[in-house]
Amino acid sequence: MNTLTFRPATAADQPIIRRMIYRAGINPLGLDWRRFVVAEEDGRIVAIGQIKPHADGSRELASLAVTPSRQGQGIGSALVRKLLASSSAPLYLTCRAGLQTYYARFGFRAITPDEMPPYFRRVAFLMNLGAPANRPRLLVMRWDGPSPDQGQWPSQARA
Ligand SMILES: CC(C)(COP(=O)(O)OP(=O)(O)OC[C@H]1O[C@@H](n2cnc3c(N)ncnc32)[C@H](O)[C@@H]1OP(=O)(O)O)[C@@H](O)C(=O)NCCC(=O)NCCS
Repeated sequence: MNTLTFRPATAADQPIIRRMIYRAGINPLGLDWRRFVVAEEDGRIVAIGQIKPHADGSRELASLAVTPSRQGQGIGSALVRKLLASSSAPLYLTCRAGLQTYYARFGFRAITPDEMPPYFRRVAFLMNLGAPANRPRLLVMRWDGPSPDQGQWPSQARA
């Protein structure tokens, strides 16, 4: 069984952070290694993620990416829980509509533009131009802290 460990990224991780984000096809802006946490298995980085601050004071759970061969095995969930456990609420994220139920399991809920901080309102407006109002391409979701029934963060990654 492989052991999954988490650690803050170092400057040496910057190239792999960029590579993983590029391969995942997600937002390539704001990838300063200083904010990242990486998940390692046997010394190899298998997942990355960060909490990204914005000029309006909001913070975003962002840049979540798991190595393709290790997806669907609980690693992304373990990393999300790790990032949430070391953060205070509220946190925001943007995601494709198809990932709404994935993030809902951690307590994120989709919000409407009037609930969004200015940064997220702008991004959602631009990304959803031309999309029907009731079927946005890009969702903004907010986390308000662990719900009482979640207690300690459950679930271990399945190695
Ligand atoms: C999305 C991602 C981070 C999830 O991490 P993971 O380790 O693969 O996911 P986990 O093993 O923790 O969770 C698996 C669950 O997530 C769901 N899931 C994973 N990727 C999904 C996707 N693209 N769309 C919808 N559901 C997805 C699976 O259906 C599975 O559900 P189940 O537990 O009910 O079977 C990972 O697949 C990834 O890196 N994708 C490419 C980059 C990306 O899209 N990042 C998110 C940007 S918002």
